[in-house]
Amino acid sequence: MSVFNTSRLHGKTVLITGASSGIGAAAAILFAKGGSNVILTARRMDALEKVQQECVAAHQEAGVQHGGRFTVIPLDVSDRDQVASLPEKIPADLLNIDILVNNAGYVVGVDRVGDISLDNMEGMFATNVFGLIALTQLFIKNFRERRTGHIINIGSIAGKEPYAGGSIYCATKHALRAFTAALMREVVDTPIRVTEIQPGMVETEFSIVRYRGDKSAADKVYTGLQPLVAEDIAEEIVWAASRPAHVNIAELFVLPVNQASATINHRSNT
Ligand SMILES: NC(=O)c1ccc[n+]([C@@H]2O[C@H](COP(=O)([O-])OP(=O)(O)OC[C@H]3O[C@@H](n4cnc5c(N)ncnc54)[C@H](OP(=O)(O)O)[C@@H]3O)[C@@H](O)[C@H]2O)c1
Repeated sequence: MSVFNTSRLHGKTVLITGASSGIGAAAAILFAKGGSNVILTARRMDALEKVQQECVAAHQEAGVQHGGRFTVIPLDVSDRDQVASLPEKIPADLLNIDILVNNAGYVVGVDRVGDISLDNMEGMFATNVFGLIALTQLFIKNFRERRTGHIINIGSIAGKEPYAGGSIYCATKHALRAFTAALMREVVDTPIRVTEIQPGMVETEFSIVRYRGDKSAADKVYTGLQPLVAEDIAEEIVWAASRPAHVNIAELFVLPVNQASATINHRSNT
């Protein structure tokens, strides 16, 4: 018996939002290794196609005889029409999704209240909250009918602990947290599982997006400590998804060892 048994992932179909980079891409590749089929969605098709190729390679390398269907679909989760028409774009044999990973999300800026652009505010809510809710609504009825399904929402430490300069992002992740907890209560009489994973600092494109492409500002976020990498959170996603059907990992709060809260961390050079 292996310590980390992935046989429960064999032949499962996973839909991941924001699979073009970071945590979503790493999760797609790990599900591929575990013998699942993966529907990769995001806005950037070129990046998605690269991740799709990595999934094919990871699946071949693992030599697993299950899953192995990897399909890419352009999807802006903040666009209602694109979300509504998503099922039409999913190949018929993959329409019965087993695991939905609501991962797409971002923050832009560190502006204080009073200076926040309303466009940025609307954009963050439209993606991190409304998009996630729309995707969940799209699949929950099918999950109920089939009496199966797992929704894994990627929250954040920002959903537990607000910090200055992150009011909107923190508000979106608090909203995600409340929605996820309410959903778990609504499906308590079904086999549907609902998980929230709350990462601390993960070095991905996240900070580059936050600092509007300023790589040196993004790098400073991680100076002097070892942040998590996307694969660390991908392992938690795949681990939660591969527990026995009667086990629901409700929440996972995952930090780098030198981070203790949104604002308390230890840096070797400070
Ligand atoms: N990195 C961290 O420190 C950290 C910590 C806690 C939580 N998180 C959360 O983890 C999740 C993944 O972030 P990451 O760290 O992996 O950052 P990332 O590398 O920037 O990935 C974000 C992903 O979201 C996608 N995305 C953004 N807006 C979208 C939209 N409107 N529609 C569809 N896809 C969209 C991006 O793809 P496209 O641009 O191609 O659409 C990209 O694939 C986010 O929800 C983030 O809030 C990150």
